[in-house]
Amino acid sequence: MTSRLSFAEMLDHHPGQSATTIAEKALNQACALVGADAGVLYLRRQDAEDDSLVHAATHPGPKPAEHRISLDLPAMATIAVRTGATLKFDDATTPDAIATLNRDVDIPPGFEPGATAAFPLTNHAKNIIGVLVLSTDTISGRNFSTAPLDLFVRFCRLAGAAVEHADLLEQISQTQLDTSARTERLRTQVERLAFIEDIEGVRGDDAFRLAISMLARAAEIYDEGTGNHVFRVNEYSHFLGQTLGKDAKYCHQLRYSAQLHDVGKMGVAPSVLRKTSALDSAERREMDNHTVYGHRILSQSPRLAMAAEIALNHHEKWDGSGYPAGKRGDDIPLSARIVQIADIYDALRSRRPYKPSFDHAHARDIILHGDDRIDSGGHFDPMVVEAFGDTHASFDKIWRNLQDS
Ligand SMILES: [Fe+2]
Ligand SMILES: [Fe+2]
Repeated sequence: MTSRLSFAEMLDHHPGQSATTIAEKALNQACALVGADAGVLYLRRQDAEDDSLVHAATHPGPKPAEHRISLDLPAMATIAVRTGATLKFDDATTPDAIATLNRDVDIPPGFEPGATAAFPLTNHAKNIIGVLVLSTDTISGRNFSTAPLDLFVRFCRLAGAAVEHADLLEQISQTQLDTSARTERLRTQVERLAFIEDIEGVRGDDAFRLAISMLARAAEIYDEGTGNHVFRVNEYSHFLGQTLGKDAKYCHQLRYSAQLHDVGKMGVAPSVLRKTSALDSAERREMDNHTVYGHRILSQSPRLAMAAEIALNHHEKWDGSGYPAGKRGDDIPLSARIVQIADIYDALRSRRPYKPSFDHAHARDIILHGDDRIDSGGHFDPMVVEAFGDTHASFDKIWRNLQDS
């Protein structure tokens, strides 16, 4: 139980990790949980022409010789994936084990196995998405007979879901899909978030926050960078919510919802999103639609209701001159009025292709008094600007704590 929860905590405390990092940590936790000394984790790659495994993590030391393995190749890993069964040899030197074990695939190079077991990794739909092959050394005399395997099977579901989730999001970020295909893939991901919440025994909040952090991170990678922008926006927004006297539940929701403000950019055509010259009016409309796309993606989960309202309204302006609907004043949800200031403060502090990084005093003055692009009185809720003005030093602190390396 401890290891399974600490895996969820690890994911939660280090949001936005790559699939490889999550796979490595899942493998280390798996070894700790069942008392294994070594292991290999593969992810399944399956399409119309190909069904194979790709190497994702090894513990300890270097990768096995084979990186991509056809499921036709005899090995414990491939058998576990083909059959969905857990394979277990308490003594790797028996004739059966020798006949089944493929040292180039199942064992880290140079490792001498005592006992070896292969565990399929499954996703929410119980499809097999990968495999863990774990081994003990010959010295310890340990095998897997006494390991808490029922618990371990549940760990494999969590690990499988988390790794697959990160892996798919990375694939979405890298793939040039058309708008409807991208939105559809994102919808599938959001449905999976609901599943991650349901995993028995895992604290819902941990898994939920992990999943949306990965979604936010994928959107950020797709858009303009890999920095900590979305995580800083969470923290500024949470802080502003507290400063405004909102209750703990509201502030908690704000903290995880704020990061999703630009998720809808994954619905915008890459040719528009990445265009460096001026946008024509149709392109500008498509870009502005990231608010509507974000709302469409997020509004299907009740727990993402605040995230959906932020995504839709974070470019509305107090005087009604914003988009997409031209809402004004209190018609704009408070969450969006808060995130807008958090988002703009962070954009001012950050270096962007079209502007240098501003220091805190410069960014603060633009929020409080405006400049040639930002009309503070017209754009922002005066109450939120006042809260910012009273506590602005904390924004600088958050910026410094979560600065991009
Ligand atoms: Fe935006
Ligand atoms: Fe942003």
